Amino acid sequence: MKDILAELEERRENARLGGGQKRIDAQHARGKLTARERIELLLDEGSFEEFDMFISHRCTDFGMENNKPAGDGVITGWGTINGRQVYVFSQDFTVLGGSVSATHAQKICKIQDMAIQNGAPIIGLNDSGGARIQEGVDALAGYAEIFQRNIMASGVIPQISVIMGPCAGGAVYSPAMTDFIFMVKDTSYMFVTGPDVVKTVTNEQVTAEELGGASTHTKKSSVADGAFENDVEALAEVRRLVDFLPLNNREKPPVRPFFDDPARIEDSLDTLIPENANTPYDMKELITKVADEGDFYEIQEDFAKNILTGFVRLEGQTVGVVANQPMVLAGCLDIDSSRKAARFVRFCDAFEIPILTFVDVPGFLPGTSQEYGGVIKHGAKLLFAYGEATVPKVTVITRKAYGGAYDVMASKHLRGDFNYAWPTAEIAVMGAKGATEIIHRADLSDAEKIAAKTAEYEDRFANPFVAAERGFIDEVIQPRSTRRRVARAFASLRNKKLQNPWKKHDNIPL
Ligand code: HXC
Repeated sequence: MKDILAELEERRENARLGGGQKRIDAQHARGKLTARERIELLLDEGSFEEFDMFISHRCTDFGMENNKPAGDGVITGWGTINGRQVYVFSQDFTVLGGSVSATHAQKICKIQDMAIQNGAPIIGLNDSGGARIQEGVDALAGYAEIFQRNIMASGVIPQISVIMGPCAGGAVYSPAMTDFIFMVKDTSYMFVTGPDVVKTVTNEQVTAEELGGASTHTKKSSVADGAFENDVEALAEVRRLVDFLPLNNREKPPVRPFFDDPARIEDSLDTLIPENANTPYDMKELITKVADEGDFYEIQEDFAKNILTGFVRLEGQTVGVVANQPMVLAGCLDIDSSRKAARFVRFCDAFEIPILTFVDVPGFLPGTSQEYGGVIKHGAKLLFAYGEATVPKVTVITRKAYGGAYDVMASKHLRGDFNYAWPTAEIAVMGAKGATEIIHRADLSDAEKIAAKTAEYEDRFANPFVAAERGFIDEVIQPRSTRRRVARAFASLRNKKLQNPWKKHDNIPL
């Protein structure tokens, strides 16, 4: 008996060593943690329960029958983050470059199935050379099995990917279908075809970092949602994110203790809007002044900065925030900001997270690049996402709400539950000057008349009261009491029930 127990320990020790000390040292030398060290940092201490530690591949080609490392290059299991269950897989680059064999894929599929069945988020720590070359189509089949489960899990449990090394070729499509992708700066990259193939096909010369590093994917492509300095920071941020999210689509997000008065008055908000309607101000100030303890967890901070997306808590409850940012492109909607916000709104709706929208939008960005790029379809995504969302929706118009963008930004007409405006709101088809120049085109040469007509238009329309008279705005509120009004609104909506008509699925303009 004693021998068997000792043998188990020995086998475990061997499996824990992965690809051996030399490769572990090489991993460390690159500034990367090992797969096991990452799991330890991600999960609550001592909470990790491992599956399939002794699994090995079945390949007998290219001498692989003599190279059968225990665990086959991925560590899988479950544990807790601040006491709440999550499933995790962590690819071990020290074992055959973390490459994906049929059995490696089988391990990932097993925990994907368990996560879906048991209703807990799944977190994938990616560090892999891609499909195990020695296995050929068996490896490709394994990937497709993972993809299928990513699709089935979408909207059922939160899926989070952290890219902590290579992720190339078709392998990118598993993270691509998850809800959030984080990348580690300098040590991770994602691309469909690498720099060598790019050079051959298009004659472009580009490094792996330029082609698919963290900066590229958080600033240019928007494939990734956040970039972090190192493994430790990335994993700490995943823990923070998970704290905002429900375990699955049938549960409410967790309610955290809060130490901030929900009725807190913020006098400084009364002067947030500048005298001149064309002067920008920082919308983040409003978000942090409304949020519990000023905590705003931003998603896609470095992309389409003309719109802000992220999570806050109000009375301890998670709320998704979407806000135009007047500091960038005057807060215009365009292709990128519409795509960014639409995806965020749909995530919130899928996981029962209420949505708070702050509006200061002068309209859609004009231009050929926008039209040729399909702003009609991309703008429609955001409109569609807001309109189909059945979660509680509270909207505050702080300043401009012009034209179609007024409709799009969670207006009353898209089933907004509470639509508030500050007294500084201007709800109109367009700005006063542009409107006057169209209506009074014949008088364009008469500057005095145009100025008088512009002032007249401003008086009549550059305010929230016309909309309020029609019930499109439920109440014009004092800026300083925004936190109290919004918190009360969401509190009153906790039992909201709203269902869309039955359908197989919708046909959002993709
Ligand atoms: C088998 C692999 C491997 C792979 C790496 N290794 N990738 N083994 N299949 N795909 C092994 C290496 O042989 C080596 O083994 C160890 O992992 C570390 O690799 P190195 O090359 O020494 O590391 P490094 O210099 O850091 O380079 C990492 C790398 C490179 C850039 C990822 O290994 C690489 O280019 N690998 C091949 C990538 C690739 O073409 N994959 C297929 C992509 S197509 P030893 O024993 O020496 O430690 C794909 C399709 C997915 O993935 C389809 C889904 C639909």
